Amino acid sequence: MDNPTVLVVDDEQLIRWSLTERLSQEGYRLLEAGTAAEALARHREGVDLVLLDYRLPDGDGLAVLKQMKEVDPDTIVILLTGHASVGNAVEAMKQGAYHYANKPFDLDEIVLLVERALETTRLRREVKALRATQAQPYGVARIVGESDAMVAIRALLQKVAASPASTVLLTGESGTGKDLAAKVIHYASDRAAKPFMNITCSALPEALLESELFGHERGAFTGADRQKRGLLESTDGGTVYLDEIGEMVPGLQAKLLRFLEEKTFKRVGGAVDIRVDVRVIAATNRTLEDEVKQGRFREDLYYRLNVLPIRLPPLRERSKDIPALVSYYVDAYNREFKKRIKGVTTEALSRLQGYRWPGNVRELRNAVERAMLLVEGSELTPAEFPVASGALSPLTEGVALPSEGIDLEQLERSLVVQALERSGWNQTRAAALLGINRDQIRYRIEKFKLERLTT
Ligand SMILES: Nc1ncnc2c1ncn2[C@@H]1O[C@H](COP(=O)(O)OP(=O)(O)OP(=O)(O)O)[C@@H](O)[C@H]1O
Ligand SMILES: [Mg+2]
Repeated sequence: MDNPTVLVVDDEQLIRWSLTERLSQEGYRLLEAGTAAEALARHREGVDLVLLDYRLPDGDGLAVLKQMKEVDPDTIVILLTGHASVGNAVEAMKQGAYHYANKPFDLDEIVLLVERALETTRLRREVKALRATQAQPYGVARIVGESDAMVAIRALLQKVAASPASTVLLTGESGTGKDLAAKVIHYASDRAAKPFMNITCSALPEALLESELFGHERGAFTGADRQKRGLLESTDGGTVYLDEIGEMVPGLQAKLLRFLEEKTFKRVGGAVDIRVDVRVIAATNRTLEDEVKQGRFREDLYYRLNVLPIRLPPLRERSKDIPALVSYYVDAYNREFKKRIKGVTTEALSRLQGYRWPGNVRELRNAVERAMLLVEGSELTPAEFPVASGALSPLTEGVALPSEGIDLEQLERSLVVQALERSGWNQTRAAALLGINRDQIRYRIEKFKLERLTT
């Protein structure tokens, strides 16, 4: 609340003048009214606090107070009364007045009263805002990134969350945000108040995973000395996140498929069909098509899962998101480490944008965390990012010379063109992508007579 607005209502011009004069010195924005009608009109313009005279030429303060509270219950009203009757004051408080002051009043006292009242509302608003953000720890806004791809993904996640879709498939390399996207889908949906359960398919042996998911009856297997409800049952109404679905063994894949199609399952060793309503979000960093071709993943399950696929692109395909992600993590670690780092230098940022990030956002987060721990100055410099500061990325070691040889000049030209295109002809960034400096890239632009194509 910058510069709160105070409305002074009194039919005596001198009183209005002394109050507005004094309060504007305190930095408030002031409005004035001499009648009840005028007061109500001003109030509709949006007012934080009203100093309201009890006796007005066209009505009494209590009636005005009541109408103001109807329009905006958050308005604070302090009643000014020259006829100090306890009855009026009590009635005013009942109608929702914050306080009352007897005329003649002391200006300093009024200033204090106004200050305190506004502080109370400020706190109240802060608490409200805080509650709102805490209730929404995984709103779509938690997904950072302004690239077209991420803007589209945010919109898609929101849509999927609100849809009745019972199955979603998240794909993407490690660290691209699949876990995060799953939580966003859950918490943005009307299932938010119900459980979100997460199970990693590769973490458990087959039999255990099966009984974890579907539960088991007493005596179903040695050691099953009592009935147990599975994850699907205890998540009824909510969302089950099946991570690393590509690793699920074929026998369980069949059972999962049956559940996805019929919404019912049997506990291990059980005979009755149990029906539950859960949304299944499956995730994998493998290419399921390949797994299907290799015979490791059931084709029918793949098609069932693939009805609603969401692919999270690797970070290297959206280096445009890097500045926003970096500043998001700088803020987060400033809070965590109680530091006041301003951000990264231009040079460091262009290096970060040029690096390939094989570990994607997770690797970037870790890199920023490390940099924030080590930094001495007020900004993060290339020195704090050794991984991205190595002139050459790991890719270089992976380029094998083809047996028929290669045209080095042509390769160089092609790489320079790609770097320029990817950086939108930003020479500093293009140079960073190639591990060279700006002069070196300028030299190559001249050498190959490169020109930016204008469309
Ligand atoms: N777009 C994003 N905005 C903000 N944070 C992100 C984003 N993408 C990922 N993260 C963060 O990066 C980290 C890794 O993401 P997450 O665990 O969701 O990846 P994953 O795809 O599930 O990886 P894995 O396949 O290894 O399980 C988390 O801390 C997550 O909050
Ligand atoms: Mg994950």
